[in-house]
Amino acid sequence: MAKHDIDPVLPAPRLRMTGGRSPACSVPPAGAWRMARTGRHEFVVVASRLPVDRVEGADGEASWRPSPGGLVTALEPVLREAGGVWIGWSGDAGPAPGAFEANGLDLVGVGLSADQVRDFYEGFCNATVWPLYHDVVARPQFDRRWWEAYVAVNWSFAAAAAAEAARGATVWVHDYQLQLVPRMLREQRADLRIGFFNHIPFPCSGIFAQLPWRRQVIEGLLGADLLGFQSRADAANFIGACRQAAGTPAKGHAIGVHDPDGVREVRAAAFPISIDSAALEAIARRDEVRKRAADIRLALGQPDLLLLGIDRLDYTKGILHRLDAYGELLDEGRLSPRVALVQVASPSRERVEAYRELRDEVELTVGRINGEHAEVGSPPVHYLHQSYPREEMAALYLAADVMLVTPLRDGMNLVAKEYVACRYDENGALVLSEFTGAADELTGAFMVNPYDIDGLKDAIVRAATISPAEARRRMRSMRRQVGQHDVAYWAASFLDTLNQAPG
Ligand code: G6P
Repeated sequence: MAKHDIDPVLPAPRLRMTGGRSPACSVPPAGAWRMARTGRHEFVVVASRLPVDRVEGADGEASWRPSPGGLVTALEPVLREAGGVWIGWSGDAGPAPGAFEANGLDLVGVGLSADQVRDFYEGFCNATVWPLYHDVVARPQFDRRWWEAYVAVNWSFAAAAAAEAARGATVWVHDYQLQLVPRMLREQRADLRIGFFNHIPFPCSGIFAQLPWRRQVIEGLLGADLLGFQSRADAANFIGACRQAAGTPAKGHAIGVHDPDGVREVRAAAFPISIDSAALEAIARRDEVRKRAADIRLALGQPDLLLLGIDRLDYTKGILHRLDAYGELLDEGRLSPRVALVQVASPSRERVEAYRELRDEVELTVGRINGEHAEVGSPPVHYLHQSYPREEMAALYLAADVMLVTPLRDGMNLVAKEYVACRYDENGALVLSEFTGAADELTGAFMVNPYDIDGLKDAIVRAATISPAEARRRMRSMRRQVGQHDVAYWAASFLDTLNQAPG
C-alpha cells in the first residue's frame, strides 16, 4: 500500500508557530492533502476508530457491523441532524476504505499500512503516549521512528478532515492518537471551528516533560479552539504543560496562542464524559436480562457474595492489585467462604509487549488463587478473557453484590457509571479507585487507593457488609449523578462551549 493514499494538491501550511521555531511536524509529507475544494459536511468527527467493525462473511465478502460505543451513541443524533461524517480507522492494516455509508451514517476510513500499525498504533500511541499519560504506571518507550509515523498518520487524518469539512464547519477531534490534527487542520483550514477531547488523563507537567516531542504535541493541540479534558485536574495539567513546554501564557482557562494573524484564544476545560444511562438501564430492566442475572448466580452456585471486575485487559486497570487484595482476604478468611469473584478481562492490544506480559501475570495470579482456594466445582475466581455484548454485561452488573473498579489511573472509567446505571434496584455497592475521573462524581462509592492493599481489602469488606439502607442511600446518590449527566449532556455541553468560542 502507498504510504499516503491521497493526491498532492494543496500547498504547504502557512502557520508560524509561537516563538518562530519550526517544529518537526509543520510540513506535510508529499501527497498529504487530498483535494483543494472544501467538503460538504457541517460536522466532522475525527477519531482513531470508526464506529463500525469490518467483518468477513463465509463467502469472503467484507461488510461493516456497527460497534456501538458511548461516543457514537452520543454523537449519532448530532451527526444525523448536521449531515455529519465520522472519520476513523477500521483497526486493520491495509488501504483506506474511503467514504462509505453504514447504519445510515456517512463514514470515511483512513488507511494505515502494516508499518504504521506497528509504529503509530502499537508504538507511539500504545507504548509511548498511553503509559506516559497514565502517570507512567508502565515505562513509556521513546522511539524516533514511532514519532515520525505518528506525525504521518496525523497528517492523513487531518487531510481527510480537511477534505470532508464544509466552509465554517465544526470539527471534533478525539483522543491521544490524534493530538497533532487540530493544528495541522487549522493550518490548512482557518475557517473551521475545531474542538479536541482527550479521553485519557493528561499528566502533570513533570511527567509530560519526559516526552521528547512535548512542544510539538502542545502546539498540535493548541490548533483547537476548545480543548476538553475529563477532569479539572487534567485541564490544569495541560495548562501547566503549555507554560512549561511551549512557554505559552494562560489566564484561567484561556491560553493565548500567537498565530500569524494575531493572538488567538484557546480554552481548556473539564467535560467529564458519561454513558447513555437511560438506554443501559432499559436493557437491565428487560425480563431476559434479569433472568440471565439470576442464572449467572445460579451457575456460580448461589454465592453469598458476588464480586465483579470488568475491564479491558490493561495494566492501568489495577487488576493485579485487586487480585492480590482478594487473595489475601481469602487467606485471612475475612470473606464468606461462599464468595466468588467474576473477573472479565476483555482482550486488548495483544501485540503490545506490556499487554502480553500483563496477561501472563494475571493468568498466573488467577491460577495461584484458584489453586490454593478452590474446591471441586467452585473456584473463587472466574476469569473470562473475552468480550461480551451489552446485555450480558448488564446481567453481570445486576448479579454482582460489589463492583470492583480499581485502576491505578483512568481518565474516567465508564464501567463504574454503567454499573450504577444498571442498578435500578438500588442495590449493590461500588469500590472505586480515587485515581479515576469517575471518583470526582460517584461520591457514594467506597473510595480506595489501589496501591494500598490493606485499604483495598478493608474497603471490599466494608462494601460487602453495609446495611441495605446505606447501600440504597449511596446507590441513589450515584444514580442521580449518572442519570442527570449522561453522554448526551456531555456532548451538548462540549459542542455548545465550542460554538461560543471566539471563531
Ligand atoms: C481507550 C481510549 C480509546 C481507545 C480505547 C480502545 O478507551 O481512550 O481512544 O479507542 O481505549 O483501545 P484501542 O487501542 O483498541 O483503540
